[in-house]
Formats: sequence, C-alpha cells, structure tokens
Amino acid sequence: MEIMECIKKRRSARSFTNQDVSDEVISEMLEAARLAPSGGNGQSWMFGVVRDDSLKKQLAMAAGEQMWIAQAPVVLALCAVLNEDLSAVEEDDFGLIVNHTRFGKEFVDHVYSYPDKRMANIFWNNGVPAIPGEHMFLRAVSFGLSACWVGYLDVRKASEILNLPEDIVCLYLMPVGYASSEAKPIERKSIEEITFVDRW
Ligand SMILES: Cc1cc2nc3c(=O)[nH]c(=O)nc-3n(C[C@H](O)[C@H](O)[C@H](O)COP(=O)(O)O)c2cc1C
Repeated sequence: MEIMECIKKRRSARSFTNQDVSDEVISEMLEAARLAPSGGNGQSWMFGVVRDDSLKKQLAMAAGEQMWIAQAPVVLALCAVLNEDLSAVEEDDFGLIVNHTRFGKEFVDHVYSYPDKRMANIFWNNGVPAIPGEHMFLRAVSFGLSACWVGYLDVRKASEILNLPEDIVCLYLMPVGYASSEAKPIERKSIEEITFVDRW
C-alpha cells in the first residue's frame, strides 16, 4: 500500500473482531518502529507485545477504565528508556545544551527541581515513543489492521503491571486488531487553517 493511502486510511479503532494478529504482522510493525528517527539517534525506546488477557485487562483499568482496550488481540506497550536526568549530566552535555536552547535554562532547572526526579524525567521523555508508534500504526494499516493511540494512562501503574525496571516507563498503549466497524467520517482542518508562509 502506498504511504499516502495508509495515511488516508488510518483511523482509530476501538472495537475489534476476534481475528488474531499474526506474529509476522507484529514483527513488521516492530521493524517499522525500529527504523524511526530520534534525537541524536538515541533510540531510547522499548516496545512490549501484550497478548495475555489478564494483563490487557489490568492495562485497560490503568487507562482510565477504557475496557475496550482489553478486547484487542494485541496491546502494544510503547515505552521510553529513561537516561540519566538532565540535572545529573555535565554542563557540556549535548542533550542539556539542546534543551536549554529550546526551553531556556530556567525552565529546565525548574522541571528538575521537582522532588520526584523520575517523574521529571518521565515528563521529559513523554514524546519518545511518538514517531515509532505512528510508524507502527501506519504499518498495521498497510496490512488491513487498525489500532488506537492510548495516552489517557496512569504511566506508573502501567509500568508496574508490566513489571518494567526502574529506568523504563510505559507512556502509551496501542491496541491493535482488525476493526469490527468502519470509522465515522471525521472533520480535519484545511491546509489553509494549519499553514503559514514565511512569517506569520
Ligand atoms: C497521543 C494520543 C493519545 C490518545 N489517547 C487516546 C485515548 O486514551 N483513548 C482514546 O479512545 N483515543 C485516544 N487517542 C485517539 C484520538 O482520539 C484520535 O486519534 C483522534 O480523535 C482522531 O481520530 P482518528 O485517529 O480516527 O483520525 C489518542 C490519540 C493520540 C495521538
């Protein structure tokens, strides 16, 4: 399937048929994630493939009781690997310099003055699974499957359920399967509404 066709076809699915998702499809999705870009090619991500019914139910509970999640044959756990936090690195650390440039030293210092350093680090890494996750979603669509991003999630609870080590956090879930109904039409903003040329 051509890339634009996948992009146009991609819609969130929240109910799935009983048809299983093969390991081959999951491998292809993981391969699409593996090739995603990341800052400094850090690749600080990890992906869980959850098929166990009890775990899926527990994850659905941690996702604000969105129980439809547990109905998907596979739930992917999109995780970030937490590196050393920015309050602990040398002043010439490139990641620190980049973040000072982006947000200002004062804001970075403020985030890391929060007593729960791990949570500050989780916040800082929130975007890590975004690009590989969307690669996976689009690859699933190319096989006729559908999925849904789940960000309404108690990330600490989800990480606990999955028995993740201290330096890995599950930030999003992605239930995957064959959609049992077609998505309703959805409004998108026009290109004019979301674009500017040169200066505003
Ligand atoms: C980061 C992110 C988090 C999301 N979290 C949830 C969620 O917790 N539950 C849910 O039902 N949908 C969730 N969605 C799906 C959005 O509601 C959906 O993508 C949006 O309404 C557009 O619809 P479409 O995906 O069908 O184009 C999330 C989407 C994104 C990108």
